[in-house]
Amino acid sequence: MKTTHHPHIADARQMDTLPDASVHLIVTSPPYPMVEMWDAVFGELVPETLPLLEASQGMAAFEAQHRALDAVWEECVRVLKPGCFLCINIGDATRSIAGEFCLYPNHSRIMAACLRLGLTPLPDILWRKPTNAPNKFMGSGMLPAGAYVTYEHEYILLFRKGGKRIFSEDEQERRRASAYFWEERNLWFSDLWTDLIGTTQKMRGPRERSAAFPFELPYRLIEMYSLQGDLVLDPFVGTGTTMAAALATGRSSIGIERLPELHPQIVATLKGSFEEGAHRVAERLRAHRSFVEARQAQGKEVKYRAIHYDFSVLTRQEREVQLPIPKDWEETADRVVITHQFPPPQDPAT
Ligand SMILES: C[S@@+](CC[C@H](N)C(=O)[O-])C[C@H]1O[C@@H](n2cnc3c(N)ncnc32)[C@H](O)[C@@H]1O
Repeated sequence: MKTTHHPHIADARQMDTLPDASVHLIVTSPPYPMVEMWDAVFGELVPETLPLLEASQGMAAFEAQHRALDAVWEECVRVLKPGCFLCINIGDATRSIAGEFCLYPNHSRIMAACLRLGLTPLPDILWRKPTNAPNKFMGSGMLPAGAYVTYEHEYILLFRKGGKRIFSEDEQERRRASAYFWEERNLWFSDLWTDLIGTTQKMRGPRERSAAFPFELPYRLIEMYSLQGDLVLDPFVGTGTTMAAALATGRSSIGIERLPELHPQIVATLKGSFEEGAHRVAERLRAHRSFVEARQAQGKEVKYRAIHYDFSVLTRQEREVQLPIPKDWEETADRVVITHQFPPPQDPAT
């Protein structure tokens, strides 16, 4: 199987190179409105935001900054195929403007925008990112009533374009190969993710902090909501984490980024994923084997045999699972082409 990975420098408010209904999954994290590191970026996208901030008009600036994102969500709906998913990682912002501290609820503003666009909202995920910072409690300390709850979570909002996806015959086969393990399902489809730690934010280049999410975040979402061979888009691709996760899971990808300076970083992230891809697969297989051994040691049945591996699986749906391994890297003028290898079927006697 071959997949292609195309980093594209453009403004995601106009994804003219992407036809209508051409993408199977969108995983993304935009710049967060009302977080100071993004003020200048929003100032370039929607010029009236800077005067509003200077005039201490916090809520008006929040609304104006979201208008830049609204245009991208509209484009996302256009390029998404019917029945396919849009996953948005977003954190709310807390900020004092002219001495007034308040929460800028980015997640509910984006939820409202996506509902207006006709997307179907689905149960979301709360990503809990604990901080050990000694100054994490804000406000009046031990005296009521002027202290603020410590904000240690972000959201992963999940939407679908219309009703359930209808799978063609070829897609049904790829769907069975794209199964995940029962125990992964139990972890990934929980509404609270506590086991994902943030990734290093240091970067050399256009900004001091990368604002990257950890590789595991798009990795899980891609496994949960797309098939091997599908096309995944990230309209705010930044350092290329979503594309790297698509490469590692055997999906094709397109990443849109406004800043041309990030192009070499995106290719470097893809290269890292190509080199590490086999390790992530080996790690998942090792974890599954120990899960099965632990279950059998407790005298519990693990009923089915995997067709392509030398282990058992808990459910019939997992039998045809095949985790593709990136094997060959080829770079063309504007994209990277990856050849993936699948495990051969096992002798049923083993
Ligand atoms: C929060 S960062 C994404 C980080 C990414 N998830 C990663 O892991 O590296 C948002 C990115 O969107 C880019 N961006 C902002 N506005 C954009 C626009 N209108 N079109 C395309 N990219 C944009 C920024 O330059 C930034 O790199």
